[in-house]
Amino acid sequence: MSRVVTVNVSIVSGTGSGGGGVAMTAAGRGPRFFRVSMNSVTYRGGVGSAVSFMVGPVQLHPLCIAYIVRVMHRLCMSHGDECMEVVSVCQNKGGTGKTTVSRLLAEGFARSGRRVLLIDFDPQCNLSQRYLAMRLDPMSADGIAPPIHPEYDPVEDGDWSGSSSSAGIFVGSEGATPYPTRIENMWILPGDGEQLRRIELVTADDVKAQVHDRLATWMALPDVREAFDIVVLDTAPSKGPLAVAAMRSATHILMPSEMETQSVEGLRGMLALWRRENRARSAKIKIIGILPNKFRRQTNLQAGIFQSMRNDETLGPLVAPCSLGLRSSFAEADHPDAVPKSVFSLPESNEARAEAEAVMAWVEERMRS
Ligand SMILES: Nc1ncnc2c1ncn2[C@@H]1O[C@H](COP(=O)(O)OP(=O)(O)OP(=O)(O)O)[C@@H](O)[C@H]1O
Ligand SMILES: [Mg+2]
Repeated sequence: MSRVVTVNVSIVSGTGSGGGGVAMTAAGRGPRFFRVSMNSVTYRGGVGSAVSFMVGPVQLHPLCIAYIVRVMHRLCMSHGDECMEVVSVCQNKGGTGKTTVSRLLAEGFARSGRRVLLIDFDPQCNLSQRYLAMRLDPMSADGIAPPIHPEYDPVEDGDWSGSSSSAGIFVGSEGATPYPTRIENMWILPGDGEQLRRIELVTADDVKAQVHDRLATWMALPDVREAFDIVVLDTAPSKGPLAVAAMRSATHILMPSEMETQSVEGLRGMLALWRRENRARSAKIKIIGILPNKFRRQTNLQAGIFQSMRNDETLGPLVAPCSLGLRSSFAEADHPDAVPKSVFSLPESNEARAEAEAVMAWVEERMRS
């Protein structure tokens, strides 16, 4: 049964240089997933341990907020499992296969026994619809919203609306509680289109900076790190605040690309963002690589673009030795009535399954190297 314990974080403003203090103490029975904001910490979930953060003395000024975030990262890292990996599937060109590849990775990792959290950051919520029966919501622009969480109890959880989404990491006070999926070892945080779009439209520099850091802060929380071995982020085709947040929280990135010019240009955009983010951190974000998708080797145009990408000084070394062909099995798996629902459940002789297995082998090898 879920339980919510809200614990206040006291922030004591400075009384002079070095005289201020920030004390964040979060203790509650049963923390599992929670959200941190500058004035509250909310725990939700089953049995766990108490966590406390003590930071100070610092002054409450934007630099101080950044300092708190950094200290929290360090404290969380030392408290939790340091091995959690975060793979961001990114490419700012649309339709290149981010969602398809995110599914493939999450299902592949889950099959190998790891506890996987899949997060949908795309306002289109395509990924969420693959694993959850989204609620019809005529009030929202998209007509859908995340469903009521199976653990929601209206009597016990009076201060929770009952649903949860990836946007809850950034806004509101309810936090983000992953949903179980039909796949063993796999949970999902669905998207909420309206809220994600609102976050993408943030323009004020200080708010943008908070969005950029918030996901990494959430990922560093001990209970998140203890609950999952690996997180897969399905991102929107953009370079907005959420794309930066995803890159900042990633340990690894994977970029699917179609063999066409705009897609290849999109890769250069992502690499520029990767370089910029890496400059500011000591633990560098590793590139798993570029995965050719919907690849039709037999067409001269695609074969030519593939070859020039292989010959490119920057992109060439990153190109995967495997690819996903343009195959109906990948598209069909998207259909709500698909049988089977996963390419990994197709017969071993199926070409789409063989390609998916080869991609997983390549990803695992790149992540271990
Ligand atoms: N290898 C493939 N073979 C056939 N169809 C594919 C393949 N990969 C993706 N598709 C189909 O192409 C469409 C776009 O793929 P997908 O949604 O994964 O791209 P995306 O990068 O997530 O798009 P967006 O940028 O809009 O989020 C989907 O209908 C998907 O089923
Ligand atoms: Mg997508």
